[in-house]
Amino acid sequence: AAAAPDILSPEFAADPYASYRTMREQFPLIWHEGMQSYIVSRYQDVERAFKDPVFTSDNYDWQIEPVHGRTILSMGGREHSVRRALVAPAFRGKELQEKFLPIIERNAAELIDAFRKDGSADLVAQFATWFPINVIVDMLGLPREDHQRFHGWYTSIIDFLGNLTQDPEVNERGLRTREELAAYMIPVIQERRANPGDDLLSTLVTAEIDGESMSDEDVKAFVSLLLAAGGETTDKAIAGVFRNLLANPEQLAAVRADRGLIPAAFAETLRFTPPVHMIMRQPNQDVTVSGGTIEAGKTVTCLIGAANRDAERYADPDRFDVLREDLTTANAFSAAADHLAFALGRHFCVGALLAKAEIEVGVNQLLDALPDLALAGDIVPEEQGLFTRGPGALHVIFTPA
Ligand code: HEM
Repeated sequence: AAAAPDILSPEFAADPYASYRTMREQFPLIWHEGMQSYIVSRYQDVERAFKDPVFTSDNYDWQIEPVHGRTILSMGGREHSVRRALVAPAFRGKELQEKFLPIIERNAAELIDAFRKDGSADLVAQFATWFPINVIVDMLGLPREDHQRFHGWYTSIIDFLGNLTQDPEVNERGLRTREELAAYMIPVIQERRANPGDDLLSTLVTAEIDGESMSDEDVKAFVSLLLAAGGETTDKAIAGVFRNLLANPEQLAAVRADRGLIPAAFAETLRFTPPVHMIMRQPNQDVTVSGGTIEAGKTVTCLIGAANRDAERYADPDRFDVLREDLTTANAFSAAADHLAFALGRHFCVGALLAKAEIEVGVNQLLDALPDLALAGDIVPEEQGLFTRGPGALHVIFTPA
């Protein structure tokens, strides 16, 4: 029999989707010696690992603590419930609609105004990497002059997290960013505690549940997490939506004509090319999944990118189709209902509705401003990255407005 695909190999990096199929069909449970991890790829197994409380990420070492500090990603039990309840209300409902939507709209418009007269642009470098970071800085109520500075920190953090080759310079820059962000944030956090305003940072420092609140260090770690969890993901999601639509011009035309299809284009992009490809869990007792047993305490790599293309779950899974019927987009949380890109269960993405609002505004404004948007040279950019994946660049042309 053929060998199981190796997710650390160059072939996998070039096209993970072919390997994902082989895994789902022939190797639904793999032990990877180098990663010291089991790997699951079928929809039903990944879904279960997210939903079944036997699988946890309590105290899991994501290799992100050196740069962020301790965050809710690796908390469980009551500690996680309380911490999550302290931050979650800020990212939905009235807060989102009334306070943050105008911030999202303003930042999209400003970025687009900077290149709409040029006739060409790189939608990654000139839009997607900036948009979510600028939004977070403004939501926190920090000075807008600091967009550039935060973008630099953002870049250092995601380079650190994606530094598979352990380049010492990248590592060193990531760790230095932790110091710089702390030196910047701690005094601002203390100032907001003394004089709270109407911004997200004030909400975070004053939030209280059952007499518990966040320390200065907790708030700083959460802000750092926001840059990666809220920045890199949304960055890659916007780039992904445009890449997939530009590669399928008839679908781009359909979305342009009916903007009500934008949530479907977002959901289908998250299914077809999810920004986060893998998430780790550890079972707290022996469990049986497709293909065998995972022993208690062992790490399991859950392949979102593979599960989202499982033919047992989706018809014609390797086709991008904003009109597909097996992906519901009817309600507010619909972007989460039928694919695994936001995970499920207790760690389900806190920022899903914020991400959805950013995509709706960003896509709408780009379509309005760039009426005949097309790929430059008809080149569909390839994705890059292992844990997170997305186009490294997206060169487009349009009639200058
Ligand atoms: C958690 C994906 C946008 C903040 C997660 C998880 C995934 C994910 C897969 C689960 C991690 C796990 O189970 O261990 C995405 C994608 C996004 C996105 C694909 C964009 C399309 C955002 C935004 C924010 C955010 C805009 C900003 C608020 C978080 C936080 C968590 C999280 C704080 C941790 C939740 C917890 O551990 O309880 N996200 N995310 N995300 N996300 Fe997102």
